[in-house]
Amino acid sequence: MAATGLSASGNGAAIAGGHSALMTTCTDAGCFTRAGAANGAVTGAGLALEQARLQAAAAQLDQVRASRARIVEACDAERRRLERDLHDGAQQRLVTLSLMLGRARHRAAGADPELAALIDSASQEAAEALTELRDLARGIHPAVLTQTGLRGAIQALAERCAVAAAVTAVPDGRFPATIEGTAYFVVSEALANVAKHSLADSSQVTIRQVHGWLVVQVSDDGSGGARPAGSGLRGLADRVASVGGVLRIDSPPGSGTRLEAYLPCT
Ligand SMILES: Nc1ncnc2c1ncn2[C@@H]1O[C@H](COP(=O)(O)OP(=O)(O)O)[C@@H](O)[C@H]1O
Ligand SMILES: [Mg+2]
Repeated sequence: MAATGLSASGNGAAIAGGHSALMTTCTDAGCFTRAGAANGAVTGAGLALEQARLQAAAAQLDQVRASRARIVEACDAERRRLERDLHDGAQQRLVTLSLMLGRARHRAAGADPELAALIDSASQEAAEALTELRDLARGIHPAVLTQTGLRGAIQALAERCAVAAAVTAVPDGRFPATIEGTAYFVVSEALANVAKHSLADSSQVTIRQVHGWLVVQVSDDGSGGARPAGSGLRGLADRVASVGGVLRIDSPPGSGTRLEAYLPCT
């Protein structure tokens, strides 16, 4: 592709040079007629080259888009694998450890109060480690999203949000894993922002399927003034663009924030 682009612009430069040479060396009327015809031919050639250059650029853009989508898809697959490994490995071991500690605590109860207290704090530690690991796994890739799709995963996000978040609509159907993942991370970051920055009383999450697009909206009635150049929102815009979507942020100071992502889903 790069080679096509280079050769087209190289020819273009050569013809532009030939055109100016014709105009300066011919003086008689016949020569002007010939120059006019040649001029038309050269203009036609110039247009054809410009068209070829644009086609090459468009093809190159398509290739970049496709490779970006492949990278995101590969990252998502890796995240799903990591989440599965954590779930089937470390998380299961911690669950078993908690059960064993529970049994030990039971045996130590009457016999050795100090040992029982020690086992209690070990149990507490194991429970906290399990919670942290579950949160970590959810951040990598939420199992509930893979298993049940957007509805359950978005509902779980809303329930965990420190500001009241109403989920007004989420389609029941399943979508490509990358699109579901992107929709999930849009809502996750948007609600995290509502909780961290907005000072809002309430927020609303709506996801609708409209003419081949999944339209994800998160709004709040807080302070507004979200900065699209912030690392979280910029990362979100990149992720949305990588699947061929568009992210819009409407956040006038004092009038709340509305974040909308349009994700292709056909
Ligand atoms: N819903 C919101 N309400 C008010 N301000 C917001 C909201 N979302 C983001 N912001 C502002 O925009 C900035 C950029 O957001 P973001 O890129 O997510 O970065 P951060 O890592 O700080 O969350 C935030 O630091 C905050 O000042
Ligand atoms: Mg943020």
